[in-house]
Amino acid sequence: MSEFPLDRFQIVGGSPLVGEVNISGAKNSILKLMAVTLMAPGKYTLRNVPDIADVSMMGELLTSLGCSINRGVETSEIEIVVPEKLAHRADYQYVRKLRASINVLGPLVARLGRAEVALPGGDAIGSRGLDFHTRGLIELGAETRNEHGYIIASAPKGLRGARIELDFPSVGATENIMTAAVLAKGVTTLENAAREPDLVDIGNFLNAMGAKIEGLGTPTLTITGVDALHPVDHTAIPDRIVTGTWAFAAAITQGDIAIHGARPSDLELPLDKLVAAGAVVTATSDGLRVKMSRRPTSIDISTLPFPGFPTDLQPFAITLNSIAEGTALVTENVFEGRFMFVNELLRLGANIRVDGHHASVTGIARLSSAPVVASDIRAGAGLVLAGLVADGITFVEGAYHVDRGYPKFAEQLRALGADVTRVD
Ligand code: UD1
Repeated sequence: MSEFPLDRFQIVGGSPLVGEVNISGAKNSILKLMAVTLMAPGKYTLRNVPDIADVSMMGELLTSLGCSINRGVETSEIEIVVPEKLAHRADYQYVRKLRASINVLGPLVARLGRAEVALPGGDAIGSRGLDFHTRGLIELGAETRNEHGYIIASAPKGLRGARIELDFPSVGATENIMTAAVLAKGVTTLENAAREPDLVDIGNFLNAMGAKIEGLGTPTLTITGVDALHPVDHTAIPDRIVTGTWAFAAAITQGDIAIHGARPSDLELPLDKLVAAGAVVTATSDGLRVKMSRRPTSIDISTLPFPGFPTDLQPFAITLNSIAEGTALVTENVFEGRFMFVNELLRLGANIRVDGHHASVTGIARLSSAPVVASDIRAGAGLVLAGLVADGITFVEGAYHVDRGYPKFAEQLRALGADVTRVD
């Protein structure tokens, strides 16, 4: 029995998803915007905030550092008041379940000259090192060490600009280094930086606060240090991964979903892949519509940093391929643990062979229901979609993972005609 109530999805397969969904702000932007508010005292308003568990967890972490957070029950706005005097220790109890909590490291070192941040938890999708984060801070003049499960960083004389090149365009490391460099003395050049839309949103937020960051959305960021920043109001960009989830959901179930409030330009490659699978994808005045009228054709996928195919959509691509016509090769280049979810799809009868970071998926006409377990947010959502195209009743345990990233997932699925409920 799970420690969480109603922690299983019960899915009766068979119905195509038809109807409309609204996309709220991007989880991977909002959580980091919340962390970045630590850079300057005052009152911030963040809009388009999704109603998901991770936002509450980040709120608890900020509160533990001295901030106050106001959020109405039904509102998509949060107000954050950051105090003049901020604590510098992010305790394990707040950090353990949330990878994005590492994003307080850069802001705390930059503003306070010291930080102690517990090594974070988050999704079980691979080893997820933090060496790029700490190496970048060291190049900016900080000293760092790992002690008793904490990263301890200090820069008593402040940070200074440097030329830094990342081995891999890590999203989190780019965010931490970029943010810290904003209050460093002089100019920082960050090469091989991540280009994800969420990161661009965070950079735009910092620039509105008074930072000088150039090159957002390109592999080279130039950051000219400033002395101080000021609070702002900001509306987060729409969640491209939730958008992509609904787009794949329409294709997998041979449905028809109008996705409002989405930004298709953040998803060009995944949408092209859906068209290759046989879906009709059309841009609408406020988003897009995805319609599928036949069994999908299998699609080869290779995950890569933006603008490549997002690793966060890989489970949906595997689910689609598992009921598609033909055989596809899916290559995972970002997180080595992401194929863990394949074992659960095998329990639903899928025909998948994994070899290292490649999965060969041969589609079958229909999956077969079974109890399965979600290991992370996207795997959980992927298994629910698989349950929709399985014969019989599928139970997906670990619904709390899905709550971390998808606002009211079961309710939204029901509104689209699915028979999905939460059970103990
Ligand atoms: C973020 C997203 C996650 C997404 C991922 C890739 C958040 C909260 N999470 O995760 O949903 O799947 O980007 O788009 O925004 N690495 C190291 N050392 C480091 C940092 C990273 O080896 O210091 C490795 C990781 O193990 C991984 C790869 O680099 O193999 C990419 O990780 P990264 O881009 O940093 O992902 P996150 O920021 O953790």
